[in-house]
Amino acid sequence: MKTTIAQIGASLDQEVTLGAWVANKRSSGKIAFLQLRDGTGFIQGVVVKAEVAEDVFQIAKGLTQESAIYVSGRVQADERAPSGYELIVHKIEVIHEATDYPITPKEHGTEFLMDHRHLWLRSKRQHALMKIRNEIIHATYRFFADHGFTKLDAPILTSSAPEGTTELFHTKYFEEDAYLSQTGQLYAEAGAMALGRVFTFGPTFRAEKSKTRRHLIEFWMIEAEMAFLEHEESLQLQENYVAYLADQVVRHCQTELKLLDRDVSKLEAIRAPFPRITYDEAVAWLQENGFSELQWGEDFGSPHETALAERFDRPVFITNYPRALKPFYMQPAPDRDDVVLCADLIAPEGYGEIIGGSERIHDYDLLTEELTRHNLSLDEYGWYLDLRKYGSVPHAGFGLGLERTVAWFGGVDHVRETIPFPRLLNRMYP
Ligand code: 4AD
Repeated sequence: MKTTIAQIGASLDQEVTLGAWVANKRSSGKIAFLQLRDGTGFIQGVVVKAEVAEDVFQIAKGLTQESAIYVSGRVQADERAPSGYELIVHKIEVIHEATDYPITPKEHGTEFLMDHRHLWLRSKRQHALMKIRNEIIHATYRFFADHGFTKLDAPILTSSAPEGTTELFHTKYFEEDAYLSQTGQLYAEAGAMALGRVFTFGPTFRAEKSKTRRHLIEFWMIEAEMAFLEHEESLQLQENYVAYLADQVVRHCQTELKLLDRDVSKLEAIRAPFPRITYDEAVAWLQENGFSELQWGEDFGSPHETALAERFDRPVFITNYPRALKPFYMQPAPDRDDVVLCADLIAPEGYGEIIGGSERIHDYDLLTEELTRHNLSLDEYGWYLDLRKYGSVPHAGFGLGLERTVAWFGGVDHVRETIPFPRLLNRMYP
């Protein structure tokens, strides 16, 4: 019977066939151990010379790393194996023999591995990270469907630059100028006025010259936008969403978290509600705790965020940033107009900002003023202003960076390992 490594437990003590690649091999004169992978998981195949035909043992001994095979054998329980099973091999059919696979079991430098990203994805650690990424994506669709959201697809080619012009990727749209999308938000706002609650999920582009372990040039963002909803209600939705993601990853990615040596208790602590502190409080606290030179009005860098996050065992919302630090569309606070109704969600353990969100300006005149103040063309934003002309309502939304969330849940240092093919400041290959 043909099966997969993920399903193999259902065939305990039975004879099965797997299509698999040879991740690694050890052999002596009497026994060969094959580390097999089939995309669904990893399992050890054991070939005992005395128990198989002579040619089968010779084939096993000669197998090279990453060769593709059909392998048949009996499924045996093995408590020590991560999968809980091993395969007692009886038959091997070579489909394709790989020669000189470049990623050997020895240590390789990061640049070498990044040059071979198309192959590196096959390794256990990368497999685990892609599975966690996949779980977050599927859990996102479940969460938003359960909360009455409609998935809306925002365009990638756009004519505007809502998150600021310095980080724009410029291209041509026939004769016109165009930009790669920095955010789906403005389109999600139009969607919210049509469908009430929407979320988008797609690639976003920032030509950021920052070479940090948290910045990608192309990253995937999940953005939610809700009509008739104010700032505080948006924060509640965000904390419930993030807590749900953590819970689902803990439930469904046990093998992966174990392989990554992730301290699961840290993820189990991610329970709503999350603490909230204002930007004002954060500045005052930082000034007294090692950052005396920080001035009100300055943006936080990652050392500031890490210091603030270390105070809590779960993510923390930093709310009401100075208006001057944030994009044009954020609603000023009701009691003072130098800060806006926004929040950044900072992950614990130094994983940085995961979510940025805000209540949006819904007053036509105020939005026009803000666009003008930011030197943005009212013509270009004509369609966006229409949303404030025809049945404008309070609304709010947020965007979660997928790669930073994968890095946090998986406990990895750098976002380059959290996306299949990272685009970095100095890398677009492969
Ligand atoms: O805070 P940002 O810029 O927010 C927006 O784009 C809003 N329009 C979202 C919204 O309200 N709909 O980005 C949101 C999140 C950040 O918190 C971070 O997780 C991620 O996107 N992010 C990046 N991730 C990787 N590389 C980069 N260069 C990133 N820039 C932002």
